[in-house]
Amino acid sequence: MEFAPKIETVGLNLHYGDFHALQDVNIKIPAQNITAMIGPSGCGKSTLLRCFNRMNDLIEHTRVEGGIIIDEHDILKPEADLISIRRKVGMVFQRPNVFDLSIYNNLRFGLRIHRMLNKRDEVMEAIEHGLEHVGLWQELKDKLKKSALTLTLEQQQRLCIARVLILKPEIILLDEPCSALDPVSTLKIEDLLRVLKHEYTLVIVTHNMQQAARVSDYTGFMYLGKLIEFGNTKQVFTNPMEKLTENYISGRFG
Ligand SMILES: Nc1ncnc2c1ncn2[C@@H]1O[C@H](COP(=O)(O)OP(=O)(O)OP(=O)(O)O)[C@@H](O)[C@H]1O
Ligand SMILES: [Mg+2]
Repeated sequence: MEFAPKIETVGLNLHYGDFHALQDVNIKIPAQNITAMIGPSGCGKSTLLRCFNRMNDLIEHTRVEGGIIIDEHDILKPEADLISIRRKVGMVFQRPNVFDLSIYNNLRFGLRIHRMLNKRDEVMEAIEHGLEHVGLWQELKDKLKKSALTLTLEQQQRLCIARVLILKPEIILLDEPCSALDPVSTLKIEDLLRVLKHEYTLVIVTHNMQQAARVSDYTGFMYLGKLIEFGNTKQVFTNPMEKLTENYISGRFG
């Protein structure tokens, strides 16, 4: 596989107290593609994803060793700037985590935290652009003062993606972003991801193997804290190199 990785881990190990949750993970994630992480529950997918923007720092008794290189900089180095890492590497969660605020203020929230854009018309322009990007502008442009909680789950998840986009990230991490959605909304979000990949590097954790096969360009299979296999999605699904991968994708465990 020949490409310059956007994210690369080198001998990455993570312990939660005594528990060795990530074991010597070496992965290279290509830019402007969708990479899916699959594997049975508890194998470390979310843990790995959280490493990419150092969200695991927020969890007590966590020890990380190895390297996580994004654009040639090791984000584990003491001099790494956490605020700028979290702006550059945005995250979308399983349940849309909209705040009990207006749609407008949900979007403005991150801009404030990151001290980006103070002028009203610049903020408005960024909000319009963000909503436009996720296909919500036409529906919501006259409702920006309404509570975000009045939106459907799919709209809320799009809003969460817009809230990340507005901060001009380069990488978007999505941890089971469709698992709270119905099948039709799921397919719509997948369409959105296909559009976004032209500009962003996307890493999606999913339990839904069909989703990984449909939407991703590359797939990593994890098992018990180890990255067992990583490759082109088509190859991983049709001709896996490892027996464990084959067993998992053919539904023999997990
Ligand atoms: N804060 C924590 N403290 C201790 N152990 C944890 C913590 N978070 C996760 N773990 C353990 O680390 C392992 C990996 O968890 P992780 O959430 O990364 O798995 P996952 O692959 O995302 O699972 P799922 O598919 O269920 O979301 C699990 O055994 C889990 O119990
Ligand atoms: Mg998880």
